[in-house]
Amino acid sequence: MSCPIGKGGTGPSRRGLLVGAGGLLASAGVGSAARAAAENPSAAAAPREPFFGEHQGGIATSQQTHAYFAAFDLIAKTREEVVAMLRAWTDAAARMTAGETARALGRDPSPEAADGGAALGLGPARLTLTFGFGAGLFSKDGEDRYGLAAKRPAALVDLPKFNGDQLNPARTGGDICVQACSDDPQVAFHAVRELVRLGYDAAQMRWAQAGFLPDARAGETPRNLMGFKDGTNNPRPAGTVATSDNPRSLDEVVWVGEEGPAWMRGGSYLVARRIRISLEHWDRSEVDFQEQVIGRHKYSGAPIGKSGEFDSLELDRQDQDGNPLIADTSHVRLGAAAANDGAQILRRGFSYNDGVSFTAERWPPWRQGMMYDAGLFFIAYQRDPRTGFIKIFENMAKLDALNQFTTHTGSGLFACPPGIRDGEFVGQMLF
Ligand code: HEM
Repeated sequence: MSCPIGKGGTGPSRRGLLVGAGGLLASAGVGSAARAAAENPSAAAAPREPFFGEHQGGIATSQQTHAYFAAFDLIAKTREEVVAMLRAWTDAAARMTAGETARALGRDPSPEAADGGAALGLGPARLTLTFGFGAGLFSKDGEDRYGLAAKRPAALVDLPKFNGDQLNPARTGGDICVQACSDDPQVAFHAVRELVRLGYDAAQMRWAQAGFLPDARAGETPRNLMGFKDGTNNPRPAGTVATSDNPRSLDEVVWVGEEGPAWMRGGSYLVARRIRISLEHWDRSEVDFQEQVIGRHKYSGAPIGKSGEFDSLELDRQDQDGNPLIADTSHVRLGAAAANDGAQILRRGFSYNDGVSFTAERWPPWRQGMMYDAGLFFIAYQRDPRTGFIKIFENMAKLDALNQFTTHTGSGLFACPPGIRDGEFVGQMLF
């Protein structure tokens, strides 16, 4: 394969271009974020997320407003080709998250040489690129293509078939994935395009999904397409008080520890589910009913019968007739740590909106016709999917009242290695 390896040459920074033509000239030839920042202090203040560190960005990072997720099939013949691609991807990712171009701009005839330019002038826009490895990297169709089969972590299981799954194989699986998140949709999409171009001979796109969140005021929980605040009861950072709803800290829930292979410690497992929501059906149901389905009040986000969004669920509360205030089949009861032997996950999903397509509803009134293909691109991180997503979703898939409005149409499980140090490539310890 012909992936360029090593540091990506020189070129104007996307941040440098923020200040217009003068900035473009000033930063032409700049290859390092530090130098670009020194030359253009206003651009240095542009919001950016670190690329190097103990953990990959895009996991504990506060959510950006846009995501572009891509899953790839590897077509590389050798392990060396995979490594060359990962080196090129790491180098390009370090540059793009710093607001640089993936490669130098210019008129070099080689298709790998020049950045496509679609994100020029947009700044880093808090871009993060998170890489994950699917089962197919380790072996595919019984073949140990890259001599890695023995290194497949026990936690990288094949997800079981869950009740109600209607997974489309064309939107499921993948040998490798990239989650690009940014506050600018074009920056996120551009980043993936650059990686696709650099990995052209080694990896082919299998499926992709764009997602978005409202630009909520800082500190506010964003609402999903059902109109509910989504993310309230996510695990909280270490140092904050543990509650019965959140018995474990984010660090404890998300990062692989001593139990995992050395190359995964400090990494995390990503579960992706493309979940279509029957919005036409939801939009015609009463708010009281919607609240029973979720187990929270719609406008405040508070647990049923309470007033504060962050009030504890207290699942054993009853009404005057002795019925549970938060219904047995409500989404939050089935998802709560207390109902799942303490299991927790970090949810980091995005809404998606892919127009309309012909659909047959799975629930009364069993309508058929053109309906929204929109919903939640659910992404969850955890240290072990067997005690995280699988543990929680097994029950949920059978009993959740929300299931009458949702259909899972795509899926993936990926092992995201730990963070990267300058000079390394992503997943280096595995190879
Ligand atoms: C379209 C699909 C889904 C929608 C619209 C949705 C929406 C929500 C909402 C509104 C909440 C309450 C607020 C919060 O704590 O964030 C919630 C909580 C939660 N959801 Fe979902 N969700 C969906 C799918 C899933 C799936 C597939 C899982 C799989 C494990 C899941 C797991 C959870 C968990 C663990 C909680 C927190 C429960 C708690 O401890 O209070 N959700 N979800």
